Amino acid sequence: MNPQPKHGTKEKVLEILSKQNGGRVSGEELARSLGVSRASVWKAVSALKDEGYNIDAKRNAGYLLLPGNVLSREMIGGFLRDPSIKEKIEVYSSVTSTNNVAKQYAAEHGGDRKDPLEKIIVADSQTAGRGRRGRSFFSPPGSGVYMSLLLRPNVGASDAVKFTTAASVAVCEAVENAFGLKPEIKWVNDVYLNSRKICGILTEAVTDIETGDVDSLVIGIGVNVFKSDLPSELQGVVGTLEGTDLDRNRLIAEIINSLTAMLEIKEGRALLKNYINEYKRRSMVLGRNIKILNTCETAAAVDIDENGGLIVRTADGTKTLSSGEISIRLDERRG
Ligand code: BTN
Repeated sequence: MNPQPKHGTKEKVLEILSKQNGGRVSGEELARSLGVSRASVWKAVSALKDEGYNIDAKRNAGYLLLPGNVLSREMIGGFLRDPSIKEKIEVYSSVTSTNNVAKQYAAEHGGDRKDPLEKIIVADSQTAGRGRRGRSFFSPPGSGVYMSLLLRPNVGASDAVKFTTAASVAVCEAVENAFGLKPEIKWVNDVYLNSRKICGILTEAVTDIETGDVDSLVIGIGVNVFKSDLPSELQGVVGTLEGTDLDRNRLIAEIINSLTAMLEIKEGRALLKNYINEYKRRSMVLGRNIKILNTCETAAAVDIDENGGLIVRTADGTKTLSSGEISIRLDERRG
């Protein structure tokens, strides 16, 4: 274990290194811009290496931060379109569930009506990751992105549902922007790549009983990035993003960038700009035959309405399936 650097120097060194876009910075430059000694810089770099950061040091050329697999607020911040969001991010190595941490935070804090995005909780692993319908979400260390965004949208429950749909679009855009892959959305909000589920979203809301407005909304996003030792029941079902040098910090930042780009703040309310066309464009369900699992009916998926409802044609006519109530399975045959 190396000696610990002065408080804050390590984070600042990391921030500068992460902004170099593959370039090197000398110890002298770092020391000068941070107003510390070169020995302090060296201690900070050593401490970062101890934490797992991949930093290459070359005599007379300086330090270079290479892609690695450590999650950090500084590294995420380096990819954010709005750098001020960095202050809202908390990164943990392990939590029970990022949704639990975000809900706990919401219960203990009042929120700021002018800024509906309050906190972003990120963890390297979850010991009790939760999925929809009471299922668990496998969240081993070093493998995925497990994050929860705490919002105070100040909208009614029906508008809050749209945030989950918008989040699935944000994940697709982020995976595409960060890694050039093109995932698709299986209604309602599962994200698939090459016919395997790579991301699930669990949104939880606390509603004011009197007004019916959503007091706080926690959007929990889990993306399987790297291959891990999957439990047998998930093998063949769950997929990962392909590649080994994928930067999870970049993916987290791109998800935040995409989702915040869809937000529009009007009179203290957080509304979503039109995202449904993008949702439809990325749908793997539209134009396909499906099976409605609850009723065992077969149907053709013809459209998605502005609330994210799936419009289907069955033998009995056209109807709209609303999210939360119904599960579907894609038929092999194209509709
Ligand atoms: C599903 O596919 O059923 C939804 C899975 C949601 C998983 C994410 S991971 C981050 C957040 N914390 C949780 O406990 N769950 C969500």
